[in-house]
Amino acid sequence: MSQHYPHLFSSFQLGTLTLPNRVVMAPMSTNMGGLDGSVTPELVAFYRARATGGTGMIIVEFCCVHRPTGRSEHRQLSLETPQQIDGHKLLVDAIASAGAVPCLQLQHGGPGVKRELVQGGVAVGPCDIHSRRDPQKLTARALGDDEIEHLIECFGTTAELGVEAGYQAFELHGAHGYLLTTFLTPYFNQRDDAWGGDEQRRLAFPTRVIKRVKAAIGDRPLIYRLSADEFTDQGLSIDDMARIAPHLAAAGLDAIHVSIGLGATSFDKIVEPMSMPEGWRLPYARRIREATGIPVISVGQIRWPATAEKAIADGDADLIALGRPLLADPAWAGKARRGDTGLIRPCTSCNYCITMSAGEHGKIGCAENPLTGRELMPIPDAGDLKGSRAVVVGGGPGGMAAALMLDQAGFDTHLYEARDSLGGGLVASAAPPFKEKLLWYQDYLQRTLGASGVEVHLGETATAERLATGAPRVVILAHGGRAIPLPIAGIDSDRVLDAYEILMGNGSQFPPPDAALPIMIYGGGETGCETAEYLAERGYQVILVSRSPAKKLARSAEAIYRMVLLERLNNNPAIRIIDNSTVDSVDDHGLVTLTGSNGQQVINQQSIAVLRLLIAQGRRPDPQLANELMAAGIPHLTIGDARQGGRIGDAVHNAYSAVVSLCAAGNGGTPELAC
Ligand SMILES: Cc1cc2nc3c(=O)[nH]c(=O)nc-3n(C[C@H](O)[C@H](O)[C@H](O)COP(=O)(O)OP(=O)(O)OC[C@H]3O[C@@H](n4cnc5c(N)ncnc54)[C@H](O)[C@@H]3O)c2cc1C
Ligand SMILES: Cc1cc2nc3c(=O)[nH]c(=O)nc-3n(C[C@H](O)[C@H](O)[C@H](O)COP(=O)(O)O)c2cc1C
Ligand code: SF4
Repeated sequence: MSQHYPHLFSSFQLGTLTLPNRVVMAPMSTNMGGLDGSVTPELVAFYRARATGGTGMIIVEFCCVHRPTGRSEHRQLSLETPQQIDGHKLLVDAIASAGAVPCLQLQHGGPGVKRELVQGGVAVGPCDIHSRRDPQKLTARALGDDEIEHLIECFGTTAELGVEAGYQAFELHGAHGYLLTTFLTPYFNQRDDAWGGDEQRRLAFPTRVIKRVKAAIGDRPLIYRLSADEFTDQGLSIDDMARIAPHLAAAGLDAIHVSIGLGATSFDKIVEPMSMPEGWRLPYARRIREATGIPVISVGQIRWPATAEKAIADGDADLIALGRPLLADPAWAGKARRGDTGLIRPCTSCNYCITMSAGEHGKIGCAENPLTGRELMPIPDAGDLKGSRAVVVGGGPGGMAAALMLDQAGFDTHLYEARDSLGGGLVASAAPPFKEKLLWYQDYLQRTLGASGVEVHLGETATAERLATGAPRVVILAHGGRAIPLPIAGIDSDRVLDAYEILMGNGSQFPPPDAALPIMIYGGGETGCETAEYLAERGYQVILVSRSPAKKLARSAEAIYRMVLLERLNNNPAIRIIDNSTVDSVDDHGLVTLTGSNGQQVINQQSIAVLRLLIAQGRRPDPQLANELMAAGIPHLTIGDARQGGRIGDAVHNAYSAVVSLCAAGNGGTPELAC
């Protein structure tokens, strides 16, 4: 037993199987299978890294049991024929040989398929579903009795093939709005026959699938993943599920994996944004554990070993599944077991991974960890460039990540940051309410830099002249963007400030709240919206002015986070939104004039007295330093916001591409940033 987190690192008897510890990898679709559903070398490498990292059991992502009707992703895994077994054997071997237990998740997408990937472009489910936009159009059709029986068989067949491939445990995906869920929930199932009509009949399909799969897998453990609360009107609540889950358990389960949410209606719960507190789902796991009396796995927003340890010690759950944390750091479990918690690269729930893995060409990734999904393409060795001087300009996420990777590759690395502290845009990103988890990443980068060979020069603005003196082999420009100048009369007034600087903590001269005078923020992007919340939380009255319609507020923010942010903004009594309007002028007394328009037509003009006008109109790259380096003949690459305004993940991934390209070019070569 580990002396660190002893409950988390104690073994666990799951049915006939002994798990080495309580850390489970949650199933996560990688979109890295073959287009034919096969296992690829990249996929094997992805899972090997998580198994080598000390995870006790790995639940391999959803594996489709019937591709013609059930595919949810372009590159979704499948296992329907004996020809596919060999690929899965490679996956099983990679996981098992690293000491983890391989478990396969069995899934049919039901109404949650990608319709362009299934027969006739129409999904299947318990009932017909018509398009909201075009009520004549069928998006899902009700399955007939024979088809239902056939799909039960498909679950069984995939399980049998999985046994041959060597999987030691199996999980049924009965959550998140896929086929099994849709039979169970009244939200989707309005049948009145053997498969629906009341709770008992809605249980019929999941129960039959459990029994069929249990028969297929013998004494290997069977887990059922369910949504403890669907957070959907007419869906199942935790009270309903506490009543239903014992019936599922009695059908032959060894454990229940307690997830949450029902597809599109509550996607913000399934992969919740950073605003949800750590461990918020544990009471749901506890409730299901108490109701069923069988072991449960808790998942979702568990980020640190101490939270996981306490959950097990308190009896909330028997096992802890980590999804996104294992994308950020495949070695999470090993580091925790050794007590190296400070070395864990912490998942902030920024959901860049969801954006990355979406779409036809997307695949799994992580904002903080460019090697996720690129396990076969590690940071290269600097080769003949080893020991040569590399300079990074800018101590934001892109610059810090670049410096760490250069150091790892073997460069003599120097990082220049103009401000007195590191962080760059991470500081502004983490300042608004509910975003403090981003500081975890900042702390991690700073700690890791401190322990690295990188020489950090704080409070030093890099100029072409200064950079030339060190004769660097390469300079990576990660100096972010600059505020966009605006044609507003009076913009130089003391009453006007940059919202970004306020979020960066440079608001020491900022006046206290005044009930009679609001702060006006000009810009309805992410920065404007978040600054509005930031100031409202500090007692200010806020007017948020956007040139675009209100429905376009925070357009560039990550979609799930944006949903939650806009709901909060619209319900915050301290924030008033004026959309479709431009700020024309401001005077030294803080009188702002605005023009409201409807497309090309002016519809009103008004003057509002404000305490301060904050500009939040975005930042853009400034090529000046790059041009000077070019003139001086110093090789350089530009990354992150200095290259193109984007996300933290873009900056970090640019950094990776820069280091790879530099090493590939070698001595004398010219690196090219291809990303
Ligand atoms: C309010 C706000 C909220 C955001 N929220 C999110 C979010 O939730 N998720 C997300 O992914 N992204 C978010 N972003 C975007 C994110 O902050 C940026 O994409 C990211 O910080 C870009 O990183 P970077 O390293 O390229 O540049 P920056 O983070 O801008 O870092 C550039 C650094 O270079 C320094 N510098 C500039 N010139 C010089 C010089 N000549 N010499 C030395 N140092 C110099 C600067 O002081 C700065 O520290 C947000 C941005 C803002 C403004
Ligand atoms: C990229 C991605 C893919 C996912 N794919 C699946 C999946 O195949 N099957 C499933 O049941 N859940 C899937 N999930 C949900 C996770 O298993 C997990 O429940 C969720 O991410 C919350 O846990 P976390 O906070 O530890 O990430 C996925 C989540 C992510 C981020
Ligand atoms: S992209 Fe963000 S949410 Fe996804 S794993 Fe990485 S840090 Fe976590």
